[in-house]
Amino acid sequence: MSPLSSTPPTLAIVGASYAGVQLAASARDAGFGGRILMFGDEPHLPYQRPPLSKGLLTGKTTVAALALKSADFYREARIEHVPDMRVSHIDPAAHRLTLADGSTLTWDWLALATGARCRALPMPGAGLQGVHALRSLDDALALDEAAHKGKRVCVIGGGFIGLEVAAALAGRGLEVTVVELGSRLLSRAVTPEISRFVASLHAAHGVRVLCNSAVQAIHGHAGKVSAVELESGECLGCDLVVAGIGVVPNDELARAAGIVCANGIVTDALGRTSAPGVLAIGDCAATPNPHAAEPDTPLRLESIQVANDLARAAASLIAGQPQACIAVPWFWSDQYDAKLQMAGLMSPTDDVVVRGDPASDRFSVFCLRDGCIAAVQTVSRPADHMLGRKLVAARTAIAADTLADPDFDPRTLIPR
Ligand code: APR
Repeated sequence: MSPLSSTPPTLAIVGASYAGVQLAASARDAGFGGRILMFGDEPHLPYQRPPLSKGLLTGKTTVAALALKSADFYREARIEHVPDMRVSHIDPAAHRLTLADGSTLTWDWLALATGARCRALPMPGAGLQGVHALRSLDDALALDEAAHKGKRVCVIGGGFIGLEVAAALAGRGLEVTVVELGSRLLSRAVTPEISRFVASLHAAHGVRVLCNSAVQAIHGHAGKVSAVELESGECLGCDLVVAGIGVVPNDELARAAGIVCANGIVTDALGRTSAPGVLAIGDCAATPNPHAAEPDTPLRLESIQVANDLARAAASLIAGQPQACIAVPWFWSDQYDAKLQMAGLMSPTDDVVVRGDPASDRFSVFCLRDGCIAAVQTVSRPADHMLGRKLVAARTAIAADTLADPDFDPRTLIPR
């Protein structure tokens, strides 16, 4: 049932990426017969983001192949996609929103699917020409063009974005250095075992990886980037800088409206925020996750699968048959020929069991928490990843030394 009784009910979605599109599609599928408007501040049809730092930069993917859904899909599902249009204000009490052009719209359900934006580089020189970030299609096209002319790249941040860009540009023959502030690569997402493998993988492809390294300043010449100066005093000459130092949630509309936020817009398992009728989904939302080490604490996960699942749950609420989703979160990253896949959410205090030989470029890391499999991280072992999703979902109990035995077959653990 909708919180307001207008006819027909209106679902307004702010944000036209994975979460917004999934909500619109799932609400229709679930029988929502009202008006669906989806506002996006980009000029494009909603598109896939993972290929931006992978196939688009390597030339394996074309822009035309990126659309999430065809224009016909939106037309047939009666989803009104409004591109190039920012929502500038929301008023939960009046069930009204204001668009950048000054017009207003009354809604019955409002979903904030505003995503996240790249964290800005905090050092001098960040505004020089040749300093790029990567989040949107336009960002990727600009970086691709710059990489055609560039020779030496400094990637700031050794997370997924930085490393995927490093792999793609090294593959294009550019000289690449990765500068990471922390003591290891991908520390937010993977175990030290995988970090070590990733560091050696990049080294094997000629990428210089500098951990424990802070950038002091970015220097330029005639307005264009020319070097990155580290706190150590070392100067890395470069004609291109790519920053991948994390993202911050786009929660300003919610904050201004007094909606509870804590590193994201806080929601329950159905996407409900502290304001009646207002939902939040996708990278902007912080939602308790039953698979986290602290399952009751709202957690902002940057995962397409999590975004889609919360959007489906929110759609079920809108359609009057609320059903939360408790799927195991999973993520992936492609770098060179290696496929990293993560199932479940690791915690730094987990016990770790490695299966397979990291030197063979194919191995798996199992994270055990309270004697149960809490996360599985694999390098080019997709079967282990799929198995891992099932074992994590079932909170499978196993002794570490049993799991570590190469003769033990973890497939025997699959619950019947
Ligand atoms: N200098 C160097 N490194 C830094 C700095 C800095 N000033 N600040 C942060 N870092 C490092 C962090 O230590 C971390 O390793 O940058 C890395 C950022 O990694 P992520 O937080 O994973 O963010 P990013 O790689 O930008 O990806 C952002 O986009 O595709 C998605 O899955 C990806 O959700 C993630 C998001």
